[in-house]
Amino acid sequence: MLKLVGSDIYLSVLEKEHCRQVWEGFEYDFEAKTEPLHMGHSVCKSESWFDEIQKVQGEKHIRLGIFLNNDDTVIGDVALQDIDWKNRSCSIGLGITKKEFRSKGYGTEAVIIMLEYGFNNIGLERIFANTLEQNKGAQKALEKSGFILEGRERKAVYFAGQRWDRLNYAILREDFIPTNKKRE
Ligand SMILES: CC(C)(COP(=O)(O)OP(=O)(O)OC[C@H]1O[C@@H](n2cnc3c(N)ncnc32)[C@H](O)[C@@H]1OP(=O)(O)O)[C@@H](O)C(=O)NCCC(=O)NCCS
Repeated sequence: MLKLVGSDIYLSVLEKEHCRQVWEGFEYDFEAKTEPLHMGHSVCKSESWFDEIQKVQGEKHIRLGIFLNNDDTVIGDVALQDIDWKNRSCSIGLGITKKEFRSKGYGTEAVIIMLEYGFNNIGLERIFANTLEQNKGAQKALEKSGFILEGRERKAVYFAGQRWDRLNYAILREDFIPTNKKRE
């Protein structure tokens, strides 16, 4: 079973029970009463999510759980998504389920472990990520992992009753500093 170990967390396969915990426990950090939110609403949906993961795992996506090294708690998920094997590129997405586990460096570490896997194990050359302008946590995690801001799609997303810019980040294999090299 795939297990990628970092200093505080490891990434590994999400079993049904992990999907339930991530899905049911997800805490949004915004108010969006009119949005069709998906996570957190039903156990049944968490099971469909698990099934969807299995259908595309290893081909279109590689989605792994984020687990704490000290007690194996699942605290989120991270994925290489829509892998374009011909052009060797994909996007990355992640979520730390509960607020109590955010801003502790786990998101950044999960991104770095996934980048290392994508560049060194499966031969990717470019990994990109899109986020909204108000998502400061995501921007910081991406920038600390070595992503470069390539573009800004002005007012591209209508969300929570407002229009937001979408920021386009990317990192190339040659930009990436492996964790065994010194990192600031
Ligand atoms: C975005 C997310 C994945 C970042 O993971 P994380 O574990 O919280 O990130 P890190 O602890 O590695 O933090 C990166 C930095 O951003 C800061 N940060 C995190 N959330 C923040 C927020 N809401 N506002 C301002 N800064 C924030 C952290 O304090 C940290 O700063 P530091 O480097 O000065 O210590 C996580 O906050 C999350 O899951 N949010 C909800 C889902 C989501 O937005 N997913 C990403 C969609 S693109």
